[in-house]
Amino acid sequence: MSKKVLITETILRDAHQSQAATRMRIDEMIPMLEQLDDIGYYSLEGWGGATFDSCLRFLNEDPWDRLRTLRKYIKKTPIQMLLRGQNLLGYKHYADDVVDKFVEASIRNGIGVIRVFDALNDERNLECAMNAINKYKGDYGAVCEATICYTTSPVHTNEYFIQKAKTLEQMGADNICLKDMSNIILPYTTYELIKGMKKVLKPTTKIHLHTHNTTGTGEMVYLKAIEAGCDIVDCALSAMGNGTSQPATEPFVATLKGTEYDTGIDIEKLVPINEHFKKVSQRLEKDGILNPKVRGIDVNTLIYQVPGGMLSNLMSQLQQAGKLDKLTECLAEVPNVRKDAGYPPLVTPSSQIVGTQAVLNILQNERYKMVTKEFKALMKGEYGKLIGEPDPEILKKVVGNEKRITYRPADDIAPEYEKFKEEMKEYYTQEEDVLSYALFNQVAINFFKYRLARDKKVDADAAKSEVYPV
Ligand code: CO
Repeated sequence: MSKKVLITETILRDAHQSQAATRMRIDEMIPMLEQLDDIGYYSLEGWGGATFDSCLRFLNEDPWDRLRTLRKYIKKTPIQMLLRGQNLLGYKHYADDVVDKFVEASIRNGIGVIRVFDALNDERNLECAMNAINKYKGDYGAVCEATICYTTSPVHTNEYFIQKAKTLEQMGADNICLKDMSNIILPYTTYELIKGMKKVLKPTTKIHLHTHNTTGTGEMVYLKAIEAGCDIVDCALSAMGNGTSQPATEPFVATLKGTEYDTGIDIEKLVPINEHFKKVSQRLEKDGILNPKVRGIDVNTLIYQVPGGMLSNLMSQLQQAGKLDKLTECLAEVPNVRKDAGYPPLVTPSSQIVGTQAVLNILQNERYKMVTKEFKALMKGEYGKLIGEPDPEILKKVVGNEKRITYRPADDIAPEYEKFKEEMKEYYTQEEDVLSYALFNQVAINFFKYRLARDKKVDADAAKSEVYPV
């Protein structure tokens, strides 16, 4: 029986987020959008994650305009976005009214698949966003893809992940995404895990796997996944595929051709599209944004279980302190801190929080003599529920007698949309501006000022601001 494998193309989002700090511009995408639309992908990932931030901060593009432009050219294929649950695209929890409005505006402006995740896999942080997706998806046809962040620890067993998948399905997920942020999942584990999930999920629930090829196991992971029944995998065209990005699209299409898993994609149609993105990749390299190192394999993550981005953060913190010789000790301290904090997955923001605390513990020559505000908040439950129980003694040392949060963190946040609207009213041109401001405050205001100057030509200097810095 044939079991066609579906592919999500990430060239418009994660590929350049992983290799080139999310700096691909809309004018570099437009020439290929109609051709990408004709390929027969399951979806085209093109928005969310860091694209929103990068549009406002570096590219002087209205992220909502970018989405509308994508939708103008991509008429058949769903556009996919990545959403950080109650954090939306920002770095803190937002009130439920802002989450609801953001999801509504995303779907109304053209998003077709919303992949929603929480760094701690706390489903309470997904509840509000998932309810909103299911509330608005009928109007335009969108898919609710709830996500599990993959990590390894004594408490992250296959049973845990399988149970989590079932819970998310019961909460209203159409698809379940297994998201391996840093390519630490291994091929045979993937096989067992997907098999187990397939057993408990409804036959109509699709499993969507996301990994990178940072450590060089990406294609093997995908192959074992589809043998276990995985429905959709994320790939990036070879121009910006592999390395820190997703496994490349073309070799995968070729591998499956003529088998029961045939993707139905015509590899020859990918050639001219890929040629175009090669030139974009070269432009990014020439501008010093893309470091050719990102195209290779780095096995450090396999050895230290520390994601690539986190490793470079650790090194730069130690370099600044003139203590690069302490790197091995700090790397050894990371799993200890993670254990003390109840084994959070190492993904933004928890990777930075755990990494910084490990460095402090080593440089202070005493564990938890100094703690960051963020580490304390993590231990208090302000980011969400920790899957393991934090070490009681360390908890006492870090949190003291302050109360820990055991409920959904956003329950503490009063509605805030009207307040945001009032604060930015002099720049208001559309409802979406309020949401840009809610997420990125001053960065959004700077963009609004630029836009005003550009449209009214009132201040040539403001309109000329740096457009494509490194
Ligand atoms: Co990714």
